[in-house]
Amino acid sequence: MDIEIYYFSGTGNSLHVAKELHKRLPGSKLIPIVSILDDDVITTKGEIVGFVFPIYLSTVPAPVEKFLKKLKLESAKYIFSVATRLGSFSVGNINVSRMLKKKGKNLDSQFVLNMASNSPTGLKPGKGNEDWVNQIKKERVSQLESEVQTNLDLICKVIHAKEKYPQKAITNPFFTTLERVICLLTSNTKTQINFYSDSTCTGCGICEQICPAKKIRMYDKKPVWDKDVNCYYCYACFNFCPSQSILVKNKYTKKDGRYFHPDITVADIVRQKQKISGD
Ligand SMILES: Cc1cc2nc3c(=O)[nH]c(=O)nc-3n(C[C@H](O)[C@H](O)[C@H](O)COP(=O)(O)O)c2cc1C
Ligand code: SF4
Ligand code: SF4
Repeated sequence: MDIEIYYFSGTGNSLHVAKELHKRLPGSKLIPIVSILDDDVITTKGEIVGFVFPIYLSTVPAPVEKFLKKLKLESAKYIFSVATRLGSFSVGNINVSRMLKKKGKNLDSQFVLNMASNSPTGLKPGKGNEDWVNQIKKERVSQLESEVQTNLDLICKVIHAKEKYPQKAITNPFFTTLERVICLLTSNTKTQINFYSDSTCTGCGICEQICPAKKIRMYDKKPVWDKDVNCYYCYACFNFCPSQSILVKNKYTKKDGRYFHPDITVADIVRQKQKISGD
């Protein structure tokens, strides 16, 4: 089978899922979305094409949206998507389906996997939300991982058999309106997250290397977030800094803890920017 799995990942959950699909689907090829995002034209070659990405603010991350708009899918006979998220209401797959429809294509199967949240975003202190630190504890993460493994087996069976696995369309007018508002608010947003590094920064440069948006530059051994470059809101810099020196002004501190998928390394995330040879 000729299968292409396109992925975007900030902190490794979606990359881990993409790698697990790759293992289970013989003949599949993993393609990082970031590595081809600036290409004028992006054309699939696979007969089966899949997208793996995280949910941000209930929908698809901006780079994934940009990628899908450019994508030419003539080769694709069967298309699937897998969204990873912390577990709140999301319309990511519905938006992918909508974008594909405009290209005359169907999203044949769509799945969501609940995994650890990579940021305290949306988990502001409040009833039931004060414990991001508990949610990223080892035991909780491995419990989520075993559920992910079971679900991945089922997902791969569906893909192998090229079965249809659609998500129910949202019919409740409240949610359809909410969905449209979210899309308007999040597409091409230029909101800045006020990241800064504190005095414990060692100047290692990992944040600059890892940033998929190329927003971070090192000056005098300190990271600077370029205001003219759009952030992807992936929280890779924040979570992968080895000394937890990256904080968000008036928001996130060292005590908030940090999360990235335990099987994914800095090098794995950095590689997203590298083109696969032969492409
Ligand atoms: C900016 C931002 C917004 C998020 N919004 C949501 C959300 O609306 N719903 C949800 O369930 N998870 C949300 N999450 C959690 C991520 O979707 C989740 O942790 C995902 O698995 C991260 O994938 P990655 O490790 O591949 O980057 C958000 C995370 C970030 C950084
Ligand atoms: S990753 Fe952390 S320690 Fe390294 S340069 Fe960036 S902020 Fe400093
Ligand atoms: S600045 Fe940080 S959050 Fe923004 S794209 Fe770069 S790594 Fe991701």
